[in-house]
Amino acid sequence: MRTLSGVQSSGRLHIGNYYGAMRQFVQLQDQGEAYYFIANYHALTTVRDPKLALELTRDAALTYLSLGLDPKKAVLFRQSDVKEVVELYWILGTVVPQSNLERAHSYKDKVAQGISPDFGLFAYPVLMAADILLYSADAVPVGKDQIQHIEFARDWAVKFNTQYVPGYDPADPEGKERGHAPGILKLPAAHVQESAATVPGIDGRKMSKSYGNTLELFGDEKDIKKRIMSIKTDSTPVEAPKPTQDAPLYDLLKLMLPAAEFADVDATWKAGGKGYGDYKKKLLEAFHTNFGPARQRRAELLADPGEVERILQDGAQRARAEATRLMDQVRRAVGIP
Ligand code: TRP
Repeated sequence: MRTLSGVQSSGRLHIGNYYGAMRQFVQLQDQGEAYYFIANYHALTTVRDPKLALELTRDAALTYLSLGLDPKKAVLFRQSDVKEVVELYWILGTVVPQSNLERAHSYKDKVAQGISPDFGLFAYPVLMAADILLYSADAVPVGKDQIQHIEFARDWAVKFNTQYVPGYDPADPEGKERGHAPGILKLPAAHVQESAATVPGIDGRKMSKSYGNTLELFGDEKDIKKRIMSIKTDSTPVEAPKPTQDAPLYDLLKLMLPAAEFADVDATWKAGGKGYGDYKKKLLEAFHTNFGPARQRRAELLADPGEVERILQDGAQRARAEATRLMDQVRRAVGIP
């Protein structure tokens, strides 16, 4: 079983990225084959400053590695290091109904937010499908907001196979029955971990860089403290029981504390007697307990940029071997020499 996923390097990664996705990536590297990449072509849909684009790409690599992604177990690479993805993106685009893209949630959301869409944003799901299909991924761990993109990848793989693979039967995509042929493009499945909860930001809305309400994984210590101390709370008095609804502080404690420790917090939270300030201190401690070691590793990696580049080059080479094999079949199927 092959797992593949990516993060878009369009901002500094925060604990929402960690609990929503990257934590699962690190766990999954021990099960089967794992491919993880930095979606730096996708990032160009929002990052227009070349220096920043380069820096955020490197930052994402450092983040993966410092969180425990082991390049001996998982293939870690930059999307842009395997150019075949752009070729597959184009070829795949020729079987993608425009109407699919027009009803893509993430595209529609962005337009609704007032972003004036360009072709890159419109075509985003096609490149994402190419990412997945190029490496014949079985499973794609993603957050809920990405499920539709994975469904598109499946639909378009079926369309491509139906068009170009003689003997392909969509009811038998692996070609197990006599007279049937397996597809060239393998159908992926979205893996949405229930534990991949939506992480609240310090203002109570979903944690997202576009809301400016994040706790950055590798943020400056003073800034982290300031942000934790400013988590939105209500005016319940110290002695009184605290509400657990619409309480980002409570949700973050639940996310970041070990279960046994959280049970104690939960009991006092519901009984009253402790103020929000105390709980914020507790959360700050938990932040440092959870991410202290990763921050340490990151500092070490930062001091050795050559090593990070070597890891990415090695990952790209392994990824390219897969991509080349698949693209040979795709080109032959469509009639590109
Ligand atoms: N769109 C994904 C996100 O914003 C990032 C991504 C790009 C991705 N290509 C992918 C995720 C392929 C999984 C597989 O989170």
